[in-house]
Amino acid sequence: MSNSALLKSSLVKKYWMSATGLFLCLFLAGHLAGNLQLLISPENGARDAFNMYGKFMTTNIFVKVLSIVTYISILFHAIDGIILTIQNRRARPVRYVKETPSASSSWASRNMALLGTVMLVFIVLHMLAFWKRMHFGPIETYIAANGEELKDLYSITVLSFKDADNGLIVCMIYLVAMIAIAFHLMHGFQSAFQSVGIRHPKYTPLIKKVGYGFALLVPLLFAIIPFYIRFML
Ligand code: HEM
Repeated sequence: MSNSALLKSSLVKKYWMSATGLFLCLFLAGHLAGNLQLLISPENGARDAFNMYGKFMTTNIFVKVLSIVTYISILFHAIDGIILTIQNRRARPVRYVKETPSASSSWASRNMALLGTVMLVFIVLHMLAFWKRMHFGPIETYIAANGEELKDLYSITVLSFKDADNGLIVCMIYLVAMIAIAFHLMHGFQSAFQSVGIRHPKYTPLIKKVGYGFALLVPLLFAIIPFYIRFML
């Protein structure tokens, strides 16, 4: 491929990475909002609330379409990221001996592929634990307070963190994954806006601040959930 064709294909890939990355940020915010119901106390109906939410998420047609867009976005984002990393390494195969990182190239920006890989491994394990059980079983059902028959995703989720043998390890895996997500978002959020050409002396500093806020708050709240369930429920 000629240099200009390679550059063009890299730009298209960066564009797609930004679009899918920003969509996945929306997914994360929505997923967090749903999961925060796990912090409701059992006496206040957490089990029914979470399981009704689970039913809605797996049966509502609009949510089903959004879920498919989410799976495709994860795949696209990961594959594009791997190809771009390989292309960048090939374009500069010799690493400088004295490679002093510039102020603008943070640790996160230089390790996006590593952070992305940690997240991808986490997402696969996470979906095998919860999503697969919810969609393909085995999963128990029960009759909720309103008489509806519900799949008990709540108990599966709570047990995975409270399990006497593996629960603490599962909590630690979530913690490590959330730290990786925080660093990935710290660079990725603002970089996505730059890649789609949104660069403005007035708005870029604001986008950076919002990005850092999102990168810290969302993974922090996600990380609290397993430890709250394990130690406070
Ligand atoms: C404490 C943290 C989390 C908990 C307790 C949790 C819980 C769950 C549960 C119970 C499901 C199954 C729901 C269903 O199939 O309807 C699910 C699905 C999923 N989770 Fe999480 N999650 C957490 C964090 C995350 C994070 C940080 C990510 C991404 C980096 C993620 C990505 C996904 C994806 C992609 C699905 C499938 C969604 C779909 O089918 O639409 N989760 N999660």
